[in-house]
Amino acid sequence: MEEKYIDENKQGEALAFAERPENTKKLFLESYGCQMNFSDSEIVASILNQEGYNTTQNYEEADLILLNTCSVREKAEQTVRMRLSQFKNLKKDRPQLTVGVLGCMAERMKHKLLEEEQLVDLVVGPDAYRDLPNLLKDTEMGRDAINVILSKEETYADINPVRLGGSGVTAFVTITRGCDNMCTFCIVPFTRGRERSRDPHSIIKECKELEANGYKEVTLLGQNVDSYLWYGGGPKKDFAKASEMQKATAVDFAQLLEMVAQAVPGMRIRFSTSNPQDMHIEVFHVMAKYPNICKYVHLPVQSGSDNMLKVMNRQHTRQEYLDLIREAKRIVPEIAFSQDIMVGFSGETEEDHQDTLSLMREVEYDYGYMFAYSVRPGTPAEKKLEDNIPADIKQRRLSEVIALQGELSRKRMASYVGKVHEILIEGTSKKNENQWKGRNSQNAVCVFDKLPGQKVGDFVNVFVHGNTQGTLLGETIQ
Ligand code: SAH
Ligand code: F3S
Repeated sequence: MEEKYIDENKQGEALAFAERPENTKKLFLESYGCQMNFSDSEIVASILNQEGYNTTQNYEEADLILLNTCSVREKAEQTVRMRLSQFKNLKKDRPQLTVGVLGCMAERMKHKLLEEEQLVDLVVGPDAYRDLPNLLKDTEMGRDAINVILSKEETYADINPVRLGGSGVTAFVTITRGCDNMCTFCIVPFTRGRERSRDPHSIIKECKELEANGYKEVTLLGQNVDSYLWYGGGPKKDFAKASEMQKATAVDFAQLLEMVAQAVPGMRIRFSTSNPQDMHIEVFHVMAKYPNICKYVHLPVQSGSDNMLKVMNRQHTRQEYLDLIREAKRIVPEIAFSQDIMVGFSGETEEDHQDTLSLMREVEYDYGYMFAYSVRPGTPAEKKLEDNIPADIKQRRLSEVIALQGELSRKRMASYVGKVHEILIEGTSKKNENQWKGRNSQNAVCVFDKLPGQKVGDFVNVFVHGNTQGTLLGETIQ
Protein backbone atom coordinates (compact mmCIF):
# COMPACT_ATOMS: atom_id res chain seq x y z
CA MET A 1 0.00 0.00 0.00
CA GLU A 2 3.01 2.27 0.08
CA GLU A 3 2.68 5.42 -2.02
CA LYS A 4 -1.03 4.96 -2.32
CA TYR A 5 -1.64 7.54 0.29
CA ILE A 6 -5.01 8.91 -0.57
CA ASP A 7 -7.21 7.71 -3.34
CA GLU A 8 -5.51 4.71 -4.79
CA ASN A 9 -7.19 5.27 -8.14
CA LYS A 10 -6.48 8.93 -8.54
CA GLN A 11 -2.72 9.40 -8.11
CA GLY A 12 -1.36 11.25 -11.08
CA GLU A 13 -4.74 11.40 -12.74
CA ALA A 14 -5.25 14.45 -14.88
CA LEU A 15 -8.42 16.26 -14.07
CA ALA A 16 -10.97 17.72 -16.42
CA PHE A 17 -14.45 19.21 -16.59
CA ALA A 18 -13.54 22.80 -15.84
CA GLU A 19 -15.05 24.52 -18.82
CA ARG A 20 -15.75 28.10 -19.80
CA PRO A 21 -16.85 28.03 -23.44
CA GLU A 22 -15.03 31.26 -24.32
CA ASN A 23 -11.69 29.89 -23.11
CA THR A 24 -9.25 29.00 -25.86
CA LYS A 25 -6.18 27.68 -24.03
CA LYS A 26 -5.81 24.21 -22.58
CA LEU A 27 -4.44 23.18 -19.20
CA PHE A 28 -3.34 19.65 -18.32
CA LEU A 29 -3.22 19.44 -14.52
CA GLU A 30 -2.01 16.32 -12.78
CA SER A 31 -2.08 15.84 -9.00
CA TYR A 32 -0.01 13.65 -6.69
CA GLY A 33 -0.02 13.02 -2.97
CA CYS A 34 -2.57 13.96 -0.35
CA GLN A 35 -6.20 15.08 -0.66
CA MET A 36 -5.06 18.63 -0.03
CA ASN A 37 -3.18 18.63 -3.33
CA PHE A 38 -6.26 17.46 -5.18
CA SER A 39 -8.21 20.21 -3.50
CA ASP A 40 -5.52 22.82 -4.27
CA SER A 41 -5.64 21.77 -7.92
CA GLU A 42 -9.28 22.82 -7.94
CA ILE A 43 -8.23 26.26 -6.73
CA VAL A 44 -5.55 26.43 -9.42
CA ALA A 45 -8.05 25.38 -12.11
CA SER A 46 -10.40 28.10 -10.89
CA ILE A 47 -7.70 30.79 -11.05
CA LEU A 48 -6.62 29.69 -14.52
CA ASN A 49 -10.19 29.39 -15.74
CA GLN A 50 -10.38 33.16 -15.35
CA GLU A 51 -7.20 33.43 -17.41
CA GLY A 52 -8.57 31.66 -20.45
CA TYR A 53 -7.69 28.04 -19.68
CA ASN A 54 -10.01 25.06 -19.77
CA THR A 55 -8.69 21.73 -18.53
CA THR A 56 -7.95 18.76 -20.74
CA GLN A 57 -7.19 15.13 -20.02
CA ASN A 58 -4.92 14.89 -23.03
CA TYR A 59 -1.48 16.43 -22.50
CA GLU A 60 -0.81 16.26 -26.25
CA GLU A 61 -3.20 19.16 -26.81
CA ALA A 62 -2.20 21.21 -23.75
CA ASP A 63 -0.70 24.71 -23.86
CA LEU A 64 0.17 24.47 -20.21
CA ILE A 65 1.12 21.35 -18.22
CA LEU A 66 1.12 21.61 -14.43
CA LEU A 67 2.06 18.92 -11.93
CA ASN A 68 0.86 19.41 -8.38
CA THR A 69 3.48 17.49 -6.48
CA CYS A 70 4.21 15.68 -3.22
CA SER A 71 7.49 15.61 -1.27
CA VAL A 72 6.47 13.47 1.64
CA ARG A 73 8.50 10.46 0.56
CA GLU A 74 11.45 10.06 -1.76
CA LYS A 75 9.53 7.74 -4.05
CA ALA A 76 6.79 10.30 -4.58
CA GLU A 77 9.39 12.75 -5.85
CA GLN A 78 10.98 10.18 -8.16
CA THR A 79 7.63 9.52 -9.82
CA VAL A 80 7.18 13.23 -10.50
CA ARG A 81 10.73 13.60 -11.82
CA MET A 82 10.14 10.88 -14.39
CA ARG A 83 6.93 12.53 -15.49
CA LEU A 84 8.64 15.93 -15.77
CA SER A 85 11.40 14.50 -17.96
CA GLN A 86 8.74 13.07 -20.24
CA PHE A 87 7.08 16.50 -20.55
CA LYS A 88 10.43 18.19 -21.08
CA ASN A 89 10.91 15.99 -24.14
CA LEU A 90 7.59 17.17 -25.54
CA LYS A 91 8.97 20.69 -25.58
CA LYS A 92 11.50 19.75 -28.27
CA ASP A 93 8.72 19.64 -30.85
CA ARG A 94 6.53 22.24 -29.17
CA PRO A 95 8.66 25.10 -27.86
CA GLN A 96 5.51 27.10 -26.98
CA LEU A 97 4.44 24.54 -24.40
CA THR A 98 4.83 25.67 -20.78
CA VAL A 99 5.56 23.09 -18.09
CA GLY A 100 5.28 23.94 -14.42
CA VAL A 101 5.58 22.34 -11.04
CA LEU A 102 3.27 23.22 -8.15
CA GLY A 103 2.95 22.10 -4.55
CA CYS A 104 5.42 20.65 -2.11
CA MET A 105 8.22 19.73 -4.51
CA ALA A 106 8.14 23.25 -5.93
CA GLU A 107 8.49 24.58 -2.42
CA ARG A 108 11.23 22.17 -1.43
CA MET A 109 13.38 22.38 -4.56
CA LYS A 110 12.78 26.08 -5.33
CA HIS A 111 15.18 27.28 -8.06
CA LYS A 112 16.78 23.90 -8.51
CA LEU A 113 14.23 22.49 -10.95
CA LEU A 114 14.47 25.66 -13.06
CA GLU A 115 18.15 26.37 -13.09
CA GLU A 116 20.26 23.33 -12.29
CA GLU A 117 18.04 20.76 -13.89
CA GLN A 118 16.08 22.96 -16.33
CA LEU A 119 13.18 20.57 -16.09
CA VAL A 120 10.44 23.19 -15.98
CA ASP A 121 9.54 26.80 -16.89
CA LEU A 122 7.46 27.57 -13.85
CA VAL A 123 7.75 26.83 -10.11
CA VAL A 124 4.90 27.77 -7.76
CA GLY A 125 4.63 26.92 -4.07
CA PRO A 126 1.34 26.10 -2.29
CA ASP A 127 0.71 29.64 -1.03
CA ALA A 128 1.43 31.44 -4.30
CA TYR A 129 -1.29 30.23 -6.68
CA ARG A 130 -2.88 33.67 -6.90
CA ASP A 131 0.32 34.82 -8.59
CA LEU A 132 -0.06 32.26 -11.42
CA PRO A 133 -1.46 34.76 -13.96
CA ASN A 134 1.56 37.06 -13.45
CA LEU A 135 4.00 34.19 -13.51
CA LEU A 136 2.51 32.93 -16.77
CA LYS A 137 3.12 36.36 -18.31
CA ASP A 138 6.79 35.93 -17.40
CA THR A 139 6.97 32.54 -19.08
CA GLU A 140 5.28 34.02 -22.19
CA MET A 141 8.15 36.51 -22.35
CA GLY A 142 10.53 33.58 -22.25
CA ARG A 143 11.56 34.16 -18.66
CA ASP A 144 11.68 31.54 -15.93
CA ALA A 145 9.00 32.18 -13.34
CA ILE A 146 9.05 31.29 -9.67
CA ASN A 147 7.10 32.16 -6.54
CA VAL A 148 7.66 30.00 -3.48
CA ILE A 149 6.82 32.55 -0.81
CA LEU A 150 4.95 30.98 2.09
CA SER A 151 2.20 32.98 3.73
CA LYS A 152 0.86 33.23 7.26
CA GLU A 153 -2.57 34.26 6.05
CA GLU A 154 -3.39 32.75 2.66
CA THR A 155 -6.38 30.40 2.83
CA TYR A 156 -7.83 31.05 -0.66
CA ALA A 157 -11.08 31.59 1.25
CA ASP A 158 -12.70 33.69 -1.49
CA ILE A 159 -11.80 31.43 -4.42
CA ASN A 160 -14.60 29.21 -5.57
CA PRO A 161 -12.85 26.00 -6.59
CA VAL A 162 -13.70 24.45 -9.94
CA ARG A 163 -14.80 20.92 -9.01
CA LEU A 164 -12.62 18.56 -10.96
CA GLY A 165 -12.76 14.92 -11.83
CA GLY A 166 -15.50 13.83 -9.44
CA SER A 167 -18.99 12.55 -10.01
CA GLY A 168 -20.63 15.61 -8.48
CA VAL A 169 -21.43 13.79 -5.25
CA THR A 170 -18.44 14.21 -2.94
CA ALA A 171 -16.20 17.25 -2.57
CA PHE A 172 -13.32 18.58 -0.49
CA VAL A 173 -13.42 21.85 1.40
CA THR A 174 -10.16 23.12 2.88
CA ILE A 175 -10.41 24.45 6.44
CA THR A 176 -6.78 24.79 7.50
CA ARG A 177 -3.47 25.09 5.67
CA GLY A 178 0.04 24.28 6.85
CA CYS A 179 1.14 22.46 9.98
CA ASP A 180 2.95 23.58 13.13
CA ASN A 181 3.56 20.17 14.63
CA MET A 182 7.11 19.48 13.50
CA CYS A 183 7.11 15.70 13.58
CA THR A 184 10.82 15.11 13.07
CA PHE A 185 10.47 12.96 9.93
CA CYS A 186 8.01 15.21 8.11
CA ILE A 187 8.65 17.72 5.32
CA VAL A 188 5.12 19.21 5.37
CA PRO A 189 5.78 22.06 7.84
CA PHE A 190 8.60 23.20 5.54
CA THR A 191 6.70 22.91 2.27
CA ARG A 192 3.29 24.09 3.44
CA GLY A 193 4.31 26.61 6.08
CA ARG A 194 2.66 27.79 9.25
CA GLU A 195 -0.72 26.59 10.22
CA ARG A 196 -3.65 28.92 9.59
CA SER A 197 -7.40 28.50 9.71
CA ARG A 198 -9.98 29.63 7.23
CA ASP A 199 -12.91 31.91 8.09
CA PRO A 200 -15.80 29.64 9.18
CA HIS A 201 -18.32 31.75 7.26
CA SER A 202 -16.56 31.12 3.98
CA ILE A 203 -16.44 27.40 4.85
CA ILE A 204 -20.18 27.30 5.55
CA LYS A 205 -20.89 29.27 2.39
CA GLU A 206 -18.90 26.80 0.30
CA CYS A 207 -20.66 23.81 1.90
CA LYS A 208 -24.07 25.34 1.24
CA GLU A 209 -23.18 26.00 -2.37
CA LEU A 210 -22.12 22.39 -2.74
CA GLU A 211 -25.43 21.26 -1.28
CA ALA A 212 -27.32 23.58 -3.63
CA ASN A 213 -25.40 22.04 -6.52
CA GLY A 214 -26.48 18.52 -5.62
CA TYR A 215 -23.40 17.39 -3.70
CA LYS A 216 -24.12 14.85 -0.96
CA GLU A 217 -20.85 14.63 0.95
CA VAL A 218 -18.16 17.07 1.99
CA THR A 219 -14.75 16.29 3.47
CA LEU A 220 -13.26 19.07 5.58
CA LEU A 221 -9.56 19.10 4.87
CA GLY A 222 -6.41 20.13 6.66
CA GLN A 223 -3.02 18.71 7.56
CA ASN A 224 -4.28 18.75 11.14
CA VAL A 225 -7.99 19.58 11.29
CA ASP A 226 -8.29 19.24 15.08
CA SER A 227 -6.00 22.20 15.45
CA TYR A 228 -8.49 24.45 13.62
CA LEU A 229 -8.92 27.76 15.43
CA TRP A 230 -10.46 30.87 13.92
CA TYR A 231 -10.29 34.09 15.86
CA GLY A 232 -10.51 36.71 13.18
CA GLY A 233 -7.29 36.17 11.32
CA GLY A 234 -3.65 35.27 11.54
CA PRO A 235 -1.87 32.04 12.28
CA LYS A 236 -2.81 29.92 15.27
CA LYS A 237 0.58 30.59 16.81
CA ASP A 238 -0.41 34.23 17.34
CA PHE A 239 -3.66 33.39 19.18
CA ALA A 240 -2.13 34.53 22.48
CA LYS A 241 -1.85 38.03 21.01
CA ALA A 242 -5.52 38.14 19.96
CA SER A 243 -7.90 40.63 21.61
CA GLU A 244 -10.32 39.56 24.36
CA MET A 245 -13.16 39.98 21.88
CA GLN A 246 -11.39 37.76 19.34
CA LYS A 247 -10.72 35.13 21.98
CA ALA A 248 -14.33 35.16 23.15
CA THR A 249 -15.68 34.61 19.63
CA ALA A 250 -13.03 32.11 18.48
CA VAL A 251 -14.27 28.95 16.73
CA ASP A 252 -12.49 25.63 17.29
CA PHE A 253 -12.81 22.41 15.28
CA ALA A 254 -15.62 20.86 17.34
CA GLN A 255 -17.63 24.08 16.97
CA LEU A 256 -16.92 24.31 13.26
CA LEU A 257 -17.98 20.70 12.76
CA GLU A 258 -21.25 21.40 14.54
CA MET A 259 -21.83 24.55 12.46
CA VAL A 260 -21.31 22.59 9.24
CA ALA A 261 -23.52 19.70 10.41
CA GLN A 262 -26.34 22.16 11.08
CA ALA A 263 -25.79 24.19 7.92
CA VAL A 264 -26.04 21.22 5.53
CA PRO A 265 -28.26 18.62 7.22
CA GLY A 266 -28.79 16.76 3.94
CA MET A 267 -25.09 16.17 3.39
CA ARG A 268 -22.66 13.71 4.89
CA ILE A 269 -19.67 15.29 6.57
CA ARG A 270 -16.21 13.78 6.84
CA PHE A 271 -12.91 15.31 7.92
CA SER A 272 -9.24 14.55 7.49
CA THR A 273 -6.57 14.45 8.85
CA SER A 274 -6.84 14.18 12.62
CA ASN A 275 -3.88 14.30 14.90
CA PRO A 276 -4.01 12.44 18.23
CA GLN A 277 -2.28 15.18 20.19
CA ASP A 278 -4.71 17.88 19.02
CA MET A 279 -7.96 15.90 18.97
CA HIS A 280 -10.47 16.97 21.63
CA ILE A 281 -13.09 14.69 23.16
CA GLU A 282 -15.68 17.33 22.27
CA VAL A 283 -15.28 16.36 18.60
CA PHE A 284 -16.59 12.86 19.41
CA HIS A 285 -19.57 14.32 21.27
CA VAL A 286 -20.43 16.39 18.20
CA MET A 287 -20.04 13.28 16.01
CA ALA A 288 -22.43 11.36 18.26
CA LYS A 289 -25.00 14.18 18.19
CA TYR A 290 -25.30 14.59 14.40
CA PRO A 291 -26.31 11.64 12.21
CA ASN A 292 -24.92 13.42 9.14
CA ILE A 293 -21.36 13.40 10.53
CA CYS A 294 -19.76 10.15 9.39
CA LYS A 295 -18.60 7.79 12.11
CA TYR A 296 -15.08 7.52 10.84
CA VAL A 297 -11.78 9.08 11.88
CA HIS A 298 -8.42 8.82 10.14
CA LEU A 299 -6.08 9.00 13.13
CA PRO A 300 -2.44 8.46 12.16
CA VAL A 301 -0.33 6.90 14.90
CA GLN A 302 3.01 6.22 13.10
CA SER A 303 4.23 3.85 15.80
CA GLY A 304 3.01 1.94 18.83
CA SER A 305 6.24 2.45 20.74
CA ASP A 306 6.75 5.28 23.22
CA ASN A 307 10.43 5.47 22.30
CA MET A 308 9.62 5.99 18.66
CA LEU A 309 6.79 8.45 19.34
CA LYS A 310 9.29 10.48 21.30
CA VAL A 311 11.99 10.61 18.63
CA MET A 312 9.28 11.42 16.11
CA ASN A 313 8.23 14.35 18.32
CA ARG A 314 4.67 13.09 18.42
CA GLN A 315 3.29 14.79 21.54
CA HIS A 316 1.47 11.78 22.95
CA THR A 317 2.21 8.36 24.38
CA ARG A 318 0.93 4.96 23.30
CA GLN A 319 -1.36 4.90 26.33
CA GLU A 320 -2.77 8.36 25.62
CA TYR A 321 -3.56 7.28 22.08
CA LEU A 322 -5.27 4.11 23.26
CA ASP A 323 -7.22 6.07 25.89
CA LEU A 324 -8.40 8.46 23.17
CA ILE A 325 -9.59 5.54 21.02
CA ARG A 326 -11.34 3.91 23.98
CA GLU A 327 -13.12 7.13 24.89
CA ALA A 328 -14.13 7.67 21.25
CA LYS A 329 -15.60 4.16 21.04
CA ARG A 330 -17.54 4.78 24.24
CA ILE A 331 -19.01 8.07 22.98
CA VAL A 332 -19.55 6.90 19.37
CA PRO A 333 -19.97 3.11 19.58
CA GLU A 334 -20.18 2.60 15.80
CA ILE A 335 -16.98 4.59 15.11
CA ALA A 336 -14.29 3.26 12.76
CA PHE A 337 -10.63 4.23 12.63
CA SER A 338 -7.91 4.16 10.01
CA GLN A 339 -4.21 4.77 10.53
CA ASP A 340 -0.96 5.98 9.02
CA ILE A 341 1.97 3.88 10.21
CA MET A 342 5.59 4.49 9.31
CA VAL A 343 8.09 1.69 9.91
CA GLY A 344 11.87 1.79 10.02
CA PHE A 345 12.37 5.21 11.55
CA SER A 346 15.71 6.02 13.16
CA GLY A 347 16.63 3.53 15.88
CA GLU A 348 13.45 1.41 15.58
CA THR A 349 14.11 -1.91 17.33
CA GLU A 350 12.31 -5.22 16.89
CA GLU A 351 10.60 -4.51 20.19
CA ASP A 352 9.38 -1.09 18.98
CA HIS A 353 8.06 -2.81 15.88
CA GLN A 354 6.24 -5.41 17.97
CA ASP A 355 4.68 -2.55 19.94
CA THR A 356 3.28 -1.19 16.68
CA LEU A 357 1.78 -4.57 15.78
CA SER A 358 0.23 -4.96 19.22
CA LEU A 359 -1.24 -1.46 19.12
CA MET A 360 -2.80 -2.23 15.74
CA ARG A 361 -4.43 -5.32 17.23
CA GLU A 362 -5.77 -3.34 20.15
CA VAL A 363 -7.31 -0.61 18.02
CA GLU A 364 -8.58 -2.90 15.25
CA TYR A 365 -8.30 -0.35 12.47
CA ASP A 366 -10.66 -0.62 9.52
CA TYR A 367 -8.02 0.51 7.11
CA GLY A 368 -4.46 1.78 6.97
CA TYR A 369 -1.85 3.63 4.95
CA MET A 370 1.56 2.17 5.67
CA PHE A 371 4.98 3.45 4.71
CA ALA A 372 8.69 2.77 5.10
CA TYR A 373 10.63 5.77 6.36
CA SER A 374 12.68 7.73 3.85
CA VAL A 375 14.84 10.70 4.84
CA ARG A 376 13.55 14.09 3.72
CA PRO A 377 16.17 16.79 3.26
CA GLY A 378 15.88 19.68 5.70
CA THR A 379 13.79 17.86 8.30
CA PRO A 380 14.93 17.65 11.94
CA ALA A 381 15.43 13.89 11.45
CA GLU A 382 17.75 14.47 8.52
CA LYS A 383 19.80 16.90 10.58
CA LYS A 384 19.93 15.07 13.89
CA LEU A 385 19.07 11.39 13.50
CA GLU A 386 20.60 8.54 11.62
CA ASP A 387 18.65 6.63 8.99
CA ASN A 388 20.03 3.42 10.46
CA ILE A 389 17.48 0.72 9.67
CA PRO A 390 18.61 -1.33 6.66
CA ALA A 391 16.25 -1.30 3.67
CA ASP A 392 15.51 -5.03 3.86
CA ILE A 393 14.44 -4.73 7.49
CA LYS A 394 12.22 -1.75 6.68
CA GLN A 395 10.61 -3.76 3.91
CA ARG A 396 10.07 -6.78 6.13
CA ARG A 397 8.47 -4.68 8.85
CA LEU A 398 6.35 -2.91 6.27
CA SER A 399 5.14 -6.26 4.92
CA GLU A 400 4.26 -7.32 8.44
CA VAL A 401 2.17 -4.26 9.21
CA ILE A 402 0.47 -4.49 5.81
CA ALA A 403 -0.33 -8.18 6.37
CA LEU A 404 -1.71 -7.50 9.83
CA GLN A 405 -3.79 -4.58 8.56
CA GLY A 406 -5.19 -6.92 5.90
CA GLU A 407 -6.26 -9.31 8.61
CA LEU A 408 -7.81 -6.54 10.71
CA SER A 409 -9.60 -5.00 7.72
CA ARG A 410 -11.10 -8.35 6.84
CA LYS A 411 -12.29 -8.78 10.40
CA ARG A 412 -13.76 -5.31 10.56
CA MET A 413 -15.49 -5.74 7.19
CA ALA A 414 -16.92 -9.04 8.44
CA SER A 415 -18.37 -7.22 11.44
CA TYR A 416 -20.54 -5.17 9.03
CA VAL A 417 -22.04 -8.31 7.49
CA GLY A 418 -25.64 -9.20 8.36
CA LYS A 419 -26.63 -5.56 8.93
CA VAL A 420 -28.30 -2.80 6.97
CA HIS A 421 -26.10 0.18 6.08
CA GLU A 422 -26.92 3.55 4.60
CA ILE A 423 -24.80 3.81 1.46
CA LEU A 424 -24.25 6.92 -0.61
CA ILE A 425 -24.07 5.89 -4.28
CA GLU A 426 -20.88 7.41 -5.71
CA GLY A 427 -20.74 5.70 -9.08
CA THR A 428 -20.67 2.46 -11.01
CA SER A 429 -18.47 -0.33 -9.71
CA LYS A 430 -15.23 -0.64 -11.66
CA LYS A 431 -15.54 -4.41 -11.89
CA ASN A 432 -19.19 -4.74 -12.84
CA GLU A 433 -21.23 -2.14 -14.66
CA ASN A 434 -24.46 -3.59 -13.32
CA GLN A 435 -23.41 -2.74 -9.80
CA TRP A 436 -23.15 0.49 -7.81
CA LYS A 437 -20.25 1.49 -5.64
CA GLY A 438 -20.64 3.63 -2.51
CA ARG A 439 -19.55 3.89 1.10
CA ASN A 440 -21.16 3.51 4.49
CA SER A 441 -20.73 6.00 7.30
CA GLN A 442 -17.57 4.16 8.43
CA ASN A 443 -16.03 4.75 4.99
CA ALA A 444 -16.15 1.06 3.99
CA VAL A 445 -16.71 0.58 0.26
CA CYS A 446 -19.85 -1.38 -0.61
CA VAL A 447 -20.93 -2.79 -3.99
CA PHE A 448 -24.44 -3.97 -4.83
CA ASP A 449 -26.69 -4.61 -7.83
CA LYS A 450 -28.29 -1.60 -9.46
CA LEU A 451 -32.05 -1.35 -9.28
CA PRO A 452 -34.26 0.69 -11.61
CA GLY A 453 -34.86 4.22 -10.33
CA GLN A 454 -31.58 4.43 -8.41
CA LYS A 455 -29.01 7.01 -9.38
CA VAL A 456 -25.62 8.43 -8.40
CA GLY A 457 -26.01 10.64 -5.31
CA ASP A 458 -28.86 8.62 -3.78
CA PHE A 459 -28.69 7.42 -0.19
CA VAL A 460 -29.89 3.81 -0.14
CA ASN A 461 -30.30 1.17 2.54
CA VAL A 462 -28.22 -1.86 1.71
CA PHE A 463 -28.21 -5.20 3.46
CA VAL A 464 -24.63 -6.46 3.59
CA HIS A 465 -24.39 -10.21 3.09
CA GLY A 466 -20.67 -10.71 2.52
CA ASN A 467 -17.25 -9.10 2.30
CA THR A 468 -13.73 -9.25 0.93
CA GLN A 469 -10.72 -7.67 2.65
CA GLY A 470 -11.66 -4.18 1.56
CA THR A 471 -15.21 -4.31 0.23
CA LEU A 472 -18.70 -5.04 1.47
CA LEU A 473 -21.09 -6.98 -0.76
CA GLY A 474 -24.77 -6.20 -0.41
CA GLU A 475 -28.22 -5.75 -1.86
CA THR A 476 -30.66 -2.86 -1.70
CA ILE A 477 -33.48 -3.12 0.83
CA GLN A 478 -36.66 -1.86 -0.77
N1 SAH B 1 -1.06 15.50 8.53
C1 SAH B 1 -0.83 15.02 7.22
C2 SAH B 1 0.23 14.01 7.17
C3 SAH B 1 1.01 14.18 5.95
S1 SAH B 1 2.19 13.00 5.70
C4 SAH B 1 -2.11 14.58 6.57
O1 SAH B 1 -2.96 15.37 6.33
O2 SAH B 1 -2.31 13.42 6.28
C5 SAH B 1 1.22 11.52 5.51
C6 SAH B 1 1.87 10.33 6.09
O3 SAH B 1 3.06 10.04 5.41
C7 SAH B 1 2.30 10.49 7.55
O4 SAH B 1 1.25 10.27 8.44
C8 SAH B 1 3.38 9.45 7.66
O5 SAH B 1 2.86 8.19 8.01
C9 SAH B 1 3.97 9.39 6.26
N2 SAH B 1 5.26 10.07 6.18
C10 SAH B 1 5.53 11.36 6.48
N3 SAH B 1 6.86 11.60 6.33
C11 SAH B 1 7.43 10.45 5.91
C12 SAH B 1 8.76 10.08 5.58
N4 SAH B 1 9.78 10.92 5.70
N5 SAH B 1 8.96 8.79 5.17
C13 SAH B 1 7.95 7.92 5.08
N6 SAH B 1 6.68 8.23 5.38
C14 SAH B 1 6.41 9.47 5.80
FE1 F3S C 1 3.61 16.13 9.21
FE2 F3S C 1 3.24 15.70 11.78
FE3 F3S C 1 2.14 17.83 10.61
S1 F3S C 1 3.15 14.17 10.14
S2 F3S C 1 1.82 17.23 8.50
S3 F3S C 1 4.30 17.45 10.90
S4 F3S C 1 1.21 16.48 12.17
